[in-house]
Amino acid sequence: MELHRLLSHTFFLLFLFAVAGELVCATEHQTYVGFRPKKLFVFGDSYSDTGNNPISLASSWKTPYGVTFPGKPTGRYSDGRVLTDYIARFMGIKSPLPYRFRKYALGKLQYGLNFAFGGTGVFDTGNLQPNMTTQIGFLQGLIKDKVYSKWDLKESLALVTVSGNDYGAFTSSGGSDQDLPSFISRVVNQMSIDLKQIHDIGVQRVLVTTLQPIGCLPRQTVLSSYQQCNENQNSAASFHNQLLQQAVTRLNNDTKQSTFLVLDLFSSFNTVLNSKTYSTGNSKSDTPLKPCCVATSSGAGCGSLDENGKKLYTVCKEPESTFFWDTVHPTQAGWRAVYLALRSSLDRIYS
Ligand SMILES: *[C@@H]1O[C@H](CO)[C@@H](O)[C@H](O)[C@H]1NC(C)=O
Ligand SMILES: *[C@@H]1O[C@H](CO)[C@@H](O)[C@H](O)[C@H]1NC(C)=O
Repeated sequence: MELHRLLSHTFFLLFLFAVAGELVCATEHQTYVGFRPKKLFVFGDSYSDTGNNPISLASSWKTPYGVTFPGKPTGRYSDGRVLTDYIARFMGIKSPLPYRFRKYALGKLQYGLNFAFGGTGVFDTGNLQPNMTTQIGFLQGLIKDKVYSKWDLKESLALVTVSGNDYGAFTSSGGSDQDLPSFISRVVNQMSIDLKQIHDIGVQRVLVTTLQPIGCLPRQTVLSSYQQCNENQNSAASFHNQLLQQAVTRLNNDTKQSTFLVLDLFSSFNTVLNSKTYSTGNSKSDTPLKPCCVATSSGAGCGSLDENGKKLYTVCKEPESTFFWDTVHPTQAGWRAVYLALRSSLDRIYS
């Protein structure tokens, strides 16, 4: 071997050892210092649901949901993975099973369970699925039945998503703009009660998401051919988030620890959308707000068929370069980008 090649080979090996050393340190830090959760319990709505809604009712169980991963519908409101899956991956565990499958999966409950149901809120939203109080009650029931012990809870993390279904229900039941601020306070107060409850039953650390920029969701931006976000709705989301941040600060002060951590979906959605890496099809970035799966007739949605079984929707060629999947949900690529934007704040779980 020529001398310079030998030297560069040695250098390369040294470099590898240096990198490996870093990895060992990082792993040891996470293993032996601080909190290392082994289970994930999930509460909330379609941003975290991985299959709880009834197959006969939910769009999440229809083609083309799941087309990217795993290739068929699994009850996730996306073409693939959702936020829950990325949080579980970050923790180094399997994505927890949906609660509805718990009876068929005894022995597979060691990663926790997912109690989130698409369409739900902290209050009833009219979709007849369990609100957050009821979801928390499911976990309490399992503790009573000794499926999970106090020790299990001590080494667990909760993820709580509240993505705006309470506000959808408020608006569709005729709630006025004047009454919105006081309704927002009621929602956040109820969230605060729910977060405290999750901690009181023994979950060691609780992640809660801020409201995403709801005025930028395709169901809203379709009115401007996907060009403009609704700034009034985004201000309402900011108000919700400000109250939520205050509530979390108060809860942490009360528990004298950083028990509750805010995951800022509002800024991570904005960061990703403004980075203009997302577009529909090949032409980059003229319509980053346009979803991949679009209904072709009014009253239809992504996954709808007519009475002859003909599709009432179109699917874009490149879901991997499109942020939104349907009128309200990100694609797997969208969630992955949001997760990467949240990555540094997730490290606080271990402190
Ligand atoms: C949640 O649902 C239960 C059962 O339907 C109901 O009794 C309870 O009042 C609801 N909680 C809230 C906060 O709306
Ligand atoms: C924090 O908790 C202490 C009591 O433990 C209380 O006196 C104080 O007012 C609280 N501060 C806030 C900002 O809630």
